[in-house]
Amino acid sequence: MASVTLQALEKRFGEVRAVAGLDIAIADGEFLTLLGPSGCGKSTALACIAGLEQPSGGTIRFDTRDVTELQPHQRNIAMVFQDYALYPHMSVRDNISFGLRQQRLSAEVIERQVQAAADMLGLGPLLERRPADLSGGQRQRVAVGRAVVRNPAVLLMDEPLSNLDAGLRVNTRTEIKRLQRELGTTTVFVTHDQEEAMVLSDRVAIMRAGSLQQIGPPMAVYRKPANLFVAGFIGSPAMNLFEVELGRTDGRLICSLAGRRIELPLSAVDEASLAGLGQGTTAILGIRPTDLVLGNGRDLLIEGELYLAEPIGPLTYLDVDIGGRPAKGVCDPDTAPELGARITLACAAGRVHLFDPATERRL
Ligand SMILES: Nc1ncnc2c1ncn2[C@@H]1O[C@H](COP(=O)(O)OP(=O)(O)OP(=O)(O)O)[C@@H](O)[C@H]1O
Ligand SMILES: [Mg+2]
Repeated sequence: MASVTLQALEKRFGEVRAVAGLDIAIADGEFLTLLGPSGCGKSTALACIAGLEQPSGGTIRFDTRDVTELQPHQRNIAMVFQDYALYPHMSVRDNISFGLRQQRLSAEVIERQVQAAADMLGLGPLLERRPADLSGGQRQRVAVGRAVVRNPAVLLMDEPLSNLDAGLRVNTRTEIKRLQRELGTTTVFVTHDQEEAMVLSDRVAIMRAGSLQQIGPPMAVYRKPANLFVAGFIGSPAMNLFEVELGRTDGRLICSLAGRRIELPLSAVDEASLAGLGQGTTAILGIRPTDLVLGNGRDLLIEGELYLAEPIGPLTYLDVDIGGRPAKGVCDPDTAPELGARITLACAAGRVHLFDPATERRL
């Protein structure tokens, strides 16, 4: 196992800056996810860590060793890709043990390690089968088994779950998380699925156009997105964003939304950004749909007309027109009002987010 340090990592393809100066320090044993939309440079960054792409600039260290110029086989990494790339003519057992046999380990050691990996991944009964006779989820577990059995210093996974159907994806990600916890292998995982990133990771690194936007534990990023991009990308359905006029009167923070004055807690903004706030500053107010609840019982109230209700089982999403602007809130499925009703949605003071529209940064 090793720590991984990316320093000013850069990868250009002609004019395209696929990775544009990435600084990330991944601790030994950590599960770190690179998360971002298609084309933001996740796979390229991962390929640089693997040694499959040569960086245009910057350095990559495993512990204190500079591996930037090393070939993939000199780095002691293992990779799992979206397409499992198993050897079709080999049994599951031979697929998993392939790397070990190349290392010329004794048959006894190989057998022990294959059995341990198969047990952890629930592949014991499938060891004699060919990949063609497995489900997609089982194939991907074999690919994971083949990767971890070699006891790599760093495990690299690029969207390993995206070929699986929804149910299998959830099961397999649980397996991967449990396995990683058990083995303690430093893992860099790539996905564009924010929920997958949240449930799996010790920390999430959100990327946009080759650059790091924010890095931190999933709930820290969820609770305090550093900018509008992260706020919109983390959490589903996406955060409500309203343009508001923000001002201070008598030491209180007031905003006006759809013609109503709403008092916000001073704690919603940073001390420093508060000092710079004049009268009538424009800001973006963000509230997650799950924090905007039908009823009166909270600090910040918004009124509007219900035009759509979307039940998902445990709760129902409410789409509300507030002065010509759409907002999404939630209610208990048993309390959903009639369409067309005028309703009040309420948000707890500590759950509002404010952003500067010019810099897009959190205030
Ligand atoms: N071999 C290449 N030659 C030229 N451009 C490339 C090459 N590989 C990647 N790119 C470009 O670099 C950028 C980042 O690509 P990358 O594959 O790293 O994105 P990604 O975040 O993994 O996206 P996805 O979620 O779609 O897999 C894209 O604009 C892509 O077109
Ligand atoms: Mg990719």
